[in-house]
Amino acid sequence: LVLVVDDEYGPRESLRLILDRQYDVATAESAFVALQELEQRTPDVILSDIRMPGMDGIEFMVQAKERCPNVPFVIITGNGTLETAQEAIRAGAVDYISKPYRVEHIREVVARSIQEARSKAEMARSVERLREMKANLAVQMEELERKASLGELSAELVHDLNNPLCILQGYTALLADSIADTPTPDEGDNHRVFDIIREQIKRCSELTRNFLEYARGGGNRWESLQINNVLRDTSFLLRVRARALRITLKEDFAADLPPVRGQRAPLQQVFYNLVVNALHVLEDTGGVLRLASRRVRTDDGREAVQVVVQDNGPGIPPEIRDRIFDSFFTTKPKDKGTGLGLPICQRVVTAHKGSITFESEVGRGTAFFVTFPVLEESERPGADDASQGRSAHRRSGTPLQPQEV
Ligand SMILES: Nc1ncnc2c1ncn2[C@@H]1O[C@H](COP(=O)(O)OP(=O)(O)OP(=O)(O)O)[C@@H](O)[C@H]1O
Ligand SMILES: [Mg+2]
Repeated sequence: LVLVVDDEYGPRESLRLILDRQYDVATAESAFVALQELEQRTPDVILSDIRMPGMDGIEFMVQAKERCPNVPFVIITGNGTLETAQEAIRAGAVDYISKPYRVEHIREVVARSIQEARSKAEMARSVERLREMKANLAVQMEELERKASLGELSAELVHDLNNPLCILQGYTALLADSIADTPTPDEGDNHRVFDIIREQIKRCSELTRNFLEYARGGGNRWESLQINNVLRDTSFLLRVRARALRITLKEDFAADLPPVRGQRAPLQQVFYNLVVNALHVLEDTGGVLRLASRRVRTDDGREAVQVVVQDNGPGIPPEIRDRIFDSFFTTKPKDKGTGLGLPICQRVVTAHKGSITFESEVGRGTAFFVTFPVLEESERPGADDASQGRSAHRRSGTPLQPQEV
């Protein structure tokens, strides 16, 4: 809509004729009528004569701007009054046209004014969007920082726990000797109880050692790794949490896996993130979480080692499946998830020249597959780690379906 304001009938109607093929045109014969019109609707541009009885164009512009500050204002001047035109521009008009009218020039000025106002509005919206995104990021940063400091604190705490644990270990060793020296009638029982205490103390120190290694991010150098060992460490870290949530953590490690080239700590983080995600979907219902490793062949026929993290939870809804690897994509409330778990997994796995994929069925569960190329024979160290596959039975080559768990 173009609003034309001029006290003279002739110029007013000729502007209407020039413009009404392209625009809706409303006219007003005075600034007062025009201001009333502005109460009703907001035009895309206002063209106003500068010299009018009652209220002149400049005063009208000032008042119009109060009502609709974003509508561009074009001043119409009589011939030879360049100075007043400049004054109008200084007062806030975007442009001016002078009488007598040149049709092309008028169309151009009107089109340009509307276009510029639209770009400006668009720009303002973009700035607003950016501002919102910035505010969001700030919140997320704060949350991350909080988590980071929490991590540091707990590392210190665990580290300090290590000292009393060492002392306990020392004293139990001493006691063990003296119990052996002084047999008592209920000796059998004492020994059993005592063994439990020692066993549990040992577990505590293993837990702390494991946690500290993870927290320090130690193990960032590239080495030849038995993936099962990394999996075992991960499962060790999370077993207690799983049990507390009544989730069965099933280990299913292939015994004959060749080594892969990798960084221990980042890989542990990958498996950790995947297992935590699975624990999360099972936490209200309980369920089965299967952590498996097996030998596979990649599409191009190369030998590979594959880790499977599988749950029998609710599955991933199809409509979010292509977004779960996006940074900050999460379906969890703010204090539960940042949406960085999977993108981190992807980054680490890619750095290992591997791949991460998943299969999911709503109502049945989800399986994530992390596949690593195997070290060539020539890249392998001499002796294979004998402890590999300690608690495993062989399952390589078995196809995995979510319903299997
Ligand atoms: N096993 C799973 N079952 C169902 N949905 C899953 C599973 N794993 C991931 N998702 C979905 O993918 C989303 C993204 O996961 P991601 O690990 O990247 O972030 P997050 O777990 O939400 O937060 P964060 O890991 O940063 O704490 C999750 O919010 C969830 O909706
Ligand atoms: Mg996660």
